[in-house]
Amino acid sequence: MTIRIGMLTSGGDCPGLNAVIRGVAKAAYELMDDVEIIGIIDGYRGLIHGEYKVMKQSDFSGILTLGGTILGTSRQPFKQMRVIGEDNIDKVKNMKENYKKMKLDCLLILGGNGTHKTAALLAEEGLNVIGLPKTIDNDLYGTDVTFGFHSAMNIATDAIDKIHTTAASHGRVMLVEIMGNKSGWLTLYAGIAGGADIILLPELPFDSDIVAKAVNKRAESGKAFSIIAVAEGAMDQKEAKMKRKDRIKARTDQGFRTISDKLASYIEQKTGCETRVVVPGHLQRGGAPSAYDRVLSTQFGVYAAKLIKERKFGVTVAMKNGIVTQNYLTDIAGKSKLVSPDDQMIEVARSMGVSFGDKA
Ligand code: F6P
Repeated sequence: MTIRIGMLTSGGDCPGLNAVIRGVAKAAYELMDDVEIIGIIDGYRGLIHGEYKVMKQSDFSGILTLGGTILGTSRQPFKQMRVIGEDNIDKVKNMKENYKKMKLDCLLILGGNGTHKTAALLAEEGLNVIGLPKTIDNDLYGTDVTFGFHSAMNIATDAIDKIHTTAASHGRVMLVEIMGNKSGWLTLYAGIAGGADIILLPELPFDSDIVAKAVNKRAESGKAFSIIAVAEGAMDQKEAKMKRKDRIKARTDQGFRTISDKLASYIEQKTGCETRVVVPGHLQRGGAPSAYDRVLSTQFGVYAAKLIKERKFGVTVAMKNGIVTQNYLTDIAGKSKLVSPDDQMIEVARSMGVSFGDKA
């Protein structure tokens, strides 16, 4: 009997998605006798609207190193899943019907936090779902690492490295804004890898005066330049007391688009140092996966194929203490893994003299 496997990629793309797709497919063809893989187009959007393609074995060749996703992706907010909008479409009903129409035995869902909430919802609705942990933010609960994180870390580190030389030549303060709205893992790791002097994370609201003092301290010790790695979701201590919406409005009212712009202006005023902001942005999600991510994605893909063979559903693949394993979707959906102020890596950075702008 043919086993029909549906696959979709949802949310922000990242390097490693195709490597996972390939890992699942190759292992599935290897482990099971008769397999058909259905690629659902543009994530949950394709599942809602019944857009898919029957994949050929050859579709999975030559994609290990390819960035992005061959299936396409889209953002379909979890909050809207049970809401019937102007189009009058009952999204959950459609997804269940299309799953049946495609005669799927299971559905593999590659995504981050929001994606996993919808995956849990579909499992609750009776679909055979397996999740795969993707995000450059590395903030999915229950796994030590997500695929995409290491590739993005390499890109962000490379950006900091390049900024280092120009910052040193000009004696400037350079703020490098790194992706991560709610969690600062990428900024923390790339900041350490790139030798940033100050690292600012959403989880540790900073005091702008302490940041300015850290810059001055470096200048007084003869270091004319400073590198500040700023997570896009970082905030000062005043802003931390506000709701996200109000925080963004307050910044806009002051004439700033981002936290980096606001802080750069403050530092320039306070220290007299020439300051620049650099935003690598979506470059961090582009290009080929790192060697580490290729291996991790392959491990995750193979594990998912084994779960299909064992008919183990309602779970998501995870890495814990170097071992690939699984979590129940119900145990992880809706939770995030944030940087704790006493994380060992924070202590490592502090021991190297890095300021987080929170303590003088
Ligand atoms: O979730 C990954 C991520 O890259 C975040 O770090 C970032 O805040 C967000 O996606 C950007 O989303 P978009 O591509 O929709 O602008």
